[in-house]
Amino acid sequence: MYTHLQRDASRPPVTLATLARMKADGEKIASLTCYDASFAVLLDAADVDVVLVGDSLGMVIQGHNTTVPVTMDHMVYHSAAVARGLHRPFLIADLPFMSYPSQTQALEHSVRLMQEGGAQMVKLESGGKQTEIVEFLASHDIAVCAHVGLKPQSVHKTGGFRVQGRERETAARLLEEARRLESAGADIVLLECIPATLGKAITAALHVPVIGIGAGPDTDGQILVTYDMLDITTGRKPRFVRNFMDGARNNLEALQQYVRAVKQGEYPAPEHCF
Ligand code: KIV
Repeated sequence: MYTHLQRDASRPPVTLATLARMKADGEKIASLTCYDASFAVLLDAADVDVVLVGDSLGMVIQGHNTTVPVTMDHMVYHSAAVARGLHRPFLIADLPFMSYPSQTQALEHSVRLMQEGGAQMVKLESGGKQTEIVEFLASHDIAVCAHVGLKPQSVHKTGGFRVQGRERETAARLLEEARRLESAGADIVLLECIPATLGKAITAALHVPVIGIGAGPDTDGQILVTYDMLDITTGRKPRFVRNFMDGARNNLEALQQYVRAVKQGEYPAPEHCF
């Protein structure tokens, strides 16, 4: 009765227990964003551990300058498409801008991402104020990823896409926030755009897996926007992006090289860190 309709018993689906074991064993978690079923099939074939339907889709799919215009309906639509293409990876979907201002709205929208979008975990951009939301969702047995550091949904308030936690006080505040979010029930913490030293300190301080993007080599895992690392995105890319199409014959090979580089600790290199 607890047996899933298995498509490939030799590749059991990744769960939170798998990710906890990977952290304990020091095996790096390879994660990427995804927005449609075709890429989902490729990411699965490349053995990506965690797939995120990020609200970055507002920028790379919809062509906006920020993630702010992304709605719940957009997230549900893309998450459901990705879920159809996946078998092994653990699927996280973003709660978009202003979809979690209250506990009840956060719960209602998380349920949509899980029931209609097929997500196994929801992610929200969190600071001090979101701790209670994380606690409320966790008390309803919803798996939560807390996004700390650079929070793209807040760029109009914070003044742009900037590295966070460079000063001693802001670094201490981010470490404290991450600790509080873990205590509130966050199952994964995602760190975006912070100095590598802070990424290392937060990862060491937490028991739950920590996944980084521009947070240095010492987090438990890495994530990138797939369109960035496949060099589909045009224009200037953030410092932490490496073009994995370099030397690859096709998309699948580039994705496999990313997974290998993360697992072997070759990515991120010093030039990708703050
Ligand atoms: O929306 C997204 O793609 C993200 C990543 C940058 C981690 O949150």
